[in-house]
Amino acid sequence: MVSRVNLKPEMCGAHILVRPVTADEALPIRAEVLRPGLMLSVAAYAGDAHPEAYHAGAFFSGNLIGVATVFPDMPLESENPLAWRLRGMAVQDAFHGLGVGRTLLGHCIDHVAEMGGNLLWCYARTVVLEFYRVMGFQPLGDEFVIPVSGPHYFMVRKVP
Ligand SMILES: CC(C)(COP(=O)(O)OP(=O)(O)OC[C@H]1O[C@@H](n2cnc3c(N)ncnc32)[C@H](O)[C@@H]1OP(=O)(O)O)[C@@H](O)C(=O)NCCC(=O)NCCS
Repeated sequence: MVSRVNLKPEMCGAHILVRPVTADEALPIRAEVLRPGLMLSVAAYAGDAHPEAYHAGAFFSGNLIGVATVFPDMPLESENPLAWRLRGMAVQDAFHGLGVGRTLLGHCIDHVAEMGGNLLWCYARTVVLEFYRVMGFQPLGDEFVIPVSGPHYFMVRKVP
């Protein structure tokens, strides 16, 4: 699937294309946005190697400017084999607030639905909790801290 995000008129009718990418393509944007100053390898996830892993990428003028990844994974204390995890939700700063994150996550949710998944979960950074709320996720439990990346909530969303 390919989607187009139409940008504001002041951006001269430019648009952003969202389509599947590989884990290798996603890695540099993840590292830049989520792990600045750290080695590229820190932004690689074990789930990238899952045969059903899916990576959505957003392109502006041919350059990758945002990514998101989903793969089958059960949250702790769950026995739901149809659960998927969202990781590496990252849009370059210059493109925030334009609908890129929404479109990337929409691709991922569609993919999970197509693959028969019924639940999507993530560890959401508290600073962007509202993004996940807008996208239909709900926090479960108390805030907790992940070293280096800071305060988070466990969030879940049903996949129709
Ligand atoms: C979180 C992130 C992916 C959102 O991407 P984005 O392209 O800026 O988001 P969108 O423009 O698609 O926003 C979708 C909706 O979420 C809301 N939203 C997005 N970021 C928000 C924020 N920081 N605070 C409040 N609302 C926010 C938007 O207002 C919009 O709602 P609306 O449609 O009702 O207006 C992006 O800000 C980012 O990469 N941040 C840095 C990395 C990060 O923290 N990733 C998450 C790790 S858990």
